[in-house]
Amino acid sequence: MSSVAMQSETAIGSNAAELETTRPFFSVRDMHAYYGESYIVQGVSLDVRKGEILALLGRNGAGKTSTLRTIARTDNPQMRQGEIWLDDQPIHKMSSFEAARAGIQLVPEDRRIIQGLTVEENITLAKVAPGNGWSLEQIYESFPRLAERRTQEGVTLSGGEQQMLAIARALARDLKLLLLDEPYEGLAPVIVQEIERILHSIKPMGITTVIVEQNAVAALKLADRAVILDTGEVAFAGSAKEVLDNPDLRHEYLAI
Ligand SMILES: Nc1ncnc2c1ncn2[C@@H]1O[C@H](COP(=O)(O)OP(=O)(O)OP(=O)(O)O)[C@@H](O)[C@H]1O
Ligand SMILES: [Mg+2]
Repeated sequence: MSSVAMQSETAIGSNAAELETTRPFFSVRDMHAYYGESYIVQGVSLDVRKGEILALLGRNGAGKTSTLRTIARTDNPQMRQGEIWLDDQPIHKMSSFEAARAGIQLVPEDRRIIQGLTVEENITLAKVAPGNGWSLEQIYESFPRLAERRTQEGVTLSGGEQQMLAIARALARDLKLLLLDEPYEGLAPVIVQEIERILHSIKPMGITTVIVEQNAVAALKLADRAVILDTGEVAFAGSAKEVLDNPDLRHEYLAI
C-alpha cells in the first residue's frame, strides 16, 4: 500500500497528529500462541483503527478466547511469535500487568466481579491503577443501573448488570483497547441493547473494542470490521457489512 493510501486508511476525524500516523492504532502481526505444546493461535493478524469496533467471530473452539488472552499477554496461551502494537507501543514485549497499564482491558466471559465488595468498591478498586480513567460520576451517568445499585454487593447483580460493572471497571482505568469475550451471553435483548448503546457511546472517545460473540448478527450490526477465525487462523477479514451481506460466509463459519 502506498504511504498516502496507508495514511488515509489510518486517519480518522481531522486530528492532524493522527494524519501523521502510519501504523493502525491497534495491530496484531502474525501472532502464534500455544498451550504447552498445543498450537492454537496460528498466525493471526488484525488491524483496527482508533475508535473502531472489531467483531472477532468463528465457530466453537476456533481460538477466539485464546486470541483475546494472547493480546492481553496472559501466560496461557504463551505467545511464541508475532507482534502486537497499540498506539505505537510494542505490547508483545510486555507482561499482562504492563499491557493493562498500557490500556488493554480484557473482560473475560466470567466477568471477574470481586466477591464481598459493593458495586462502588469494585469500581474504585479498579481506579487504584494510575492513569486517566473515568470518574465515578461519569460512570454513574452512563450506567444509571449501577448508580442505583452502588451499595449492593457486585456478585448479587443480575448477569446484565454484572456485565455493565465489568465494562465500568475497564472504563475506570486508562482504557484504550477493550477486549470483550461473549458479553451478551445469557442476557435479555433489552440488556444487550443497553450494552450496545454504551459500546457505541465510547467510540468517539477513541476507545477501540474487540468483541467476541456467539450472537454474531448483533456483534456485526454493532461492529465496523469483522475477522472470522477458523482453527486458529484468519479465514476472513473485512467490513462487518460484508459478512452480514454474504450468506455463504455466514453459513460456512458462523452457522447463521
Ligand atoms: N487452557 C487450555 N489448554 C489447552 N487447550 C486449550 C486451553 N484453552 C483452550 N484450549 C483449546 O484451544 C482451542 C481454542 O479454544 P478457545 O477457547 O480459544 O476457542 P473459542 O473460539 O473461544 O471457542 P468458544 O466459542 O467455544 O468459546 C480449543 O481447541 C480448545 O480446546
Ligand atoms: Mg471462547
